[in-house]
Amino acid sequence: MDKFLIQGGNKLEGEVRISGAKNAALPLLAAMILAETPMTLRNVPNLKDVNTLVKLIGGLGVTISYAGDTVISDASTLDNQFAPYELVKTMRASILVLGPLLARYGEAKVSLPGGCAIGSRPVDQHLKALEALGAQIEVENGYVHAKVDGRLKGGEVIFDMVTVGGTENILIAATLAEGVTTIRNAAREPEITDLAQMLIKMGAKIEGLDTDTLIVTGVEKLHGCEYAVVADRIETGSYLAAAAMTGGRVKTTHTDPALLECVLEKFEEMGAEVTRGDDWIELDMMGKRPKAVSFRTLPHPDFPTDMQAQLMAVNAIGRGFATISETIFENRFMHVPELSRMGANIQVEGNDAVVTGVDKLSAAPVMATDLRASFSLVLAALAAEGETLVDRIYHIDRGYEDIEAKLQSIGAQIKRVSE
Ligand code: UD1
Repeated sequence: MDKFLIQGGNKLEGEVRISGAKNAALPLLAAMILAETPMTLRNVPNLKDVNTLVKLIGGLGVTISYAGDTVISDASTLDNQFAPYELVKTMRASILVLGPLLARYGEAKVSLPGGCAIGSRPVDQHLKALEALGAQIEVENGYVHAKVDGRLKGGEVIFDMVTVGGTENILIAATLAEGVTTIRNAAREPEITDLAQMLIKMGAKIEGLDTDTLIVTGVEKLHGCEYAVVADRIETGSYLAAAAMTGGRVKTTHTDPALLECVLEKFEEMGAEVTRGDDWIELDMMGKRPKAVSFRTLPHPDFPTDMQAQLMAVNAIGRGFATISETIFENRFMHVPELSRMGANIQVEGNDAVVTGVDKLSAAPVMATDLRASFSLVLAALAAEGETLVDRIYHIDRGYEDIEAKLQSIGAQIKRVSE
């Protein structure tokens, strides 16, 4: 199993090119199932999760190839509606093929994604929404079996909570439904707007982009197009956090400051100088120790849960103390015991954590527990005294393209070791 060996203490300085967003690429790939003519998706990050979904879509009979940062697909060959447990179990986002299969093929059999380290993460909202469009759904032997006679019928969908994946699944499905679908309490994450924009390019009719009410007027067919995945706002924030953590200066390029304004404001509150360009952001910590900052995770445009662990790591070496409330997932503080092993002072009570900054972290063997938590351990290691071994980095490979090359290019001493 691969591990990272990280020698801490270097101030990180330089430029990092940001990749396309994993969380946008996955729904965009799922939406490619709808196109009746070939299509091309560019700026696709080379990540394990993307490979899993490409394999899953290929298994549905779609002709699909993935080379460099480009995926080319021809979904006219789609001939099967089965998404097996072996693939789905490794990635919850596989459930995103449910809506498109149902809309295009009239039937889908998709394994339930099951539990997940950061919480139970059910898919009840996805199923309820598809039922509102006329799907008949049975859950049996760990599989969701969904069917529809003829086309899905447009309808009113009201989500009980803001769900990113649920909004994406139903948005994709509604594009081919008969009549108008109104999606209320829709998630407003930039990845959803990206998905809506690609669907519109494929011929879909969608209004209300960037709001919590999406109105979709169904069409009979969608065609292929060429599209580029939006920049990864979480990867952007993670590298900016690396500058804040080490007192350094990092410029992220091929990104968009508008995607993560709420996070940038937190960095400013820490005392960093943040400069925003059209497609770049630079964070200069000017050799200072950051001030600890409090925040609460909430749906977009508020503070993203996917940046919680990274900002907690920065707070761990901050001046003063901060309170962090996690409101999206019930069990997303698994990085806390690991950060504590490195000398962080963090008290957790329910979904709140109080972080009291310490002068120095010290190297220790630690274990990654989930994708974003793994980056928080890398951040801690970059600032710690000594050499840290981060185990189970397969989590990090699910979501950060070329992480060691990118970190090395800004002066980090990090290497991958295999055992
Ligand atoms: C997506 C992101 C993930 C991010 C999360 C929240 C992708 C591939 N993943 O995950 O990185 O952390 O949004 O911004 O885009 N819920 C239910 N029932 C449902 C659906 C969700 O109870 O049917 C709950 C979940 O358990 C969770 C909350 O709603 O507590 C939010 O989940 P959701 O927004 O659906 O997250 P994902 O789409 O899985």
